[in-house]
Amino acid sequence: RQRILSGMQPSAGSLHLGNYLGALVHWVRLQETYDAVFFIPDLHAITVPQDPAELAQRTRTTAAQYIAGGVDPERATLFVQSHVPEHAQLAWVLNCLTGFGEASRMTQFKDKSSKQGSDSASVGLFTYPILQAADILLYQPDGVPVGEDQRQHVELSRDLAQRFNSRFGETFVVPKPFIQKDSAKIYDLQNPTAKMSKSASSAAGLVNLLDDPKVSAKRIRSAVTDDGSEIRFDRAAKPGISNLLAIFSSLTGRTVEDLEAAYEGRMYGHLKVDLAAAVADTLGPVRVRAEELLSDPAELDRLLALGAAKARDLAAPTLAAVYERVGFLPVA
Ligand code: TYM
Repeated sequence: RQRILSGMQPSAGSLHLGNYLGALVHWVRLQETYDAVFFIPDLHAITVPQDPAELAQRTRTTAAQYIAGGVDPERATLFVQSHVPEHAQLAWVLNCLTGFGEASRMTQFKDKSSKQGSDSASVGLFTYPILQAADILLYQPDGVPVGEDQRQHVELSRDLAQRFNSRFGETFVVPKPFIQKDSAKIYDLQNPTAKMSKSASSAAGLVNLLDDPKVSAKRIRSAVTDDGSEIRFDRAAKPGISNLLAIFSSLTGRTVEDLEAAYEGRMYGHLKVDLAAAVADTLGPVRVRAEELLSDPAELDRLLALGAAKARDLAAPTLAAVYERVGFLPVA
């Protein structure tokens, strides 16, 4: 079977609708036909300051949301990145194969460091995409299902795989980004030309998986809409309404054309009320299940420990091959 791999940062108390529609629903579909590897990148989370107690709690909460959203810990390999030391070990080797200029061109670093000021941005934030390449290449996956915002990072992992293979001999599978066109980018409700983001969006711009559906309904009712009154998909002229239509379409499987026809002659408010109901229908059960899982943290931790053991069995042979090919002296 072919393999896929992906992960979401535990950097907020809850995943949001962009994480859910842009990634999680695709993971769940793909785990049926692929050998799936899903992990929680806590090493990546500390590239910006984190409260230690909160980070541990958020790591568990993220795992609970994966499972509540449909990731099957028996079928897939589900683990926490810091439980598998091979990620950091391979990242070092890849750091040494990446050009300074090449790393400087990564747009996420430019965005995040310009917000923090480049003097206070950590070196970890700079090498973030190289650690991500290590996450990916360790498991030899064929595909990496992510939202559009992660495309550049997956491209870097392809470049590094090819570079290593040509310099040291065939070692890595060169992975492909798996990006679902219709849901690849969900926008901020208050700022519908910027992506919905755990770190950049204000609370009012987010729909969170773990929020009370009443809170989400209120945020959808208050979403920024556009001039005029027509319910029509047009990203340039109507970014707010287009975002709501795209969310509605990905949640329900109805096409945007079908929704435009259904809402012809009706008001923005009608669309918002129905969308809030669709969000509650889909996310309500996910939230309930996540809360159940979080009520038994020992059981969650046990699942994650099993996942880490499975992950190490996959990762160790790749790291061993890399160490040998770069010329590290084996332990006698
Ligand atoms: P993260 O945690 O920012 O996002 C997790 C997943 O959600 C997708 N996503 C979105 N999709 C659509 N619309 C949005 N507004 C939106 N916001 C986020 C992301 O594309 C992603 O698929 N660097 C990664 C984590 C990571 C990783 C990896 C991913 C670390 N190592 C290895 C894949 C493979 C990140 O920060 O994702």
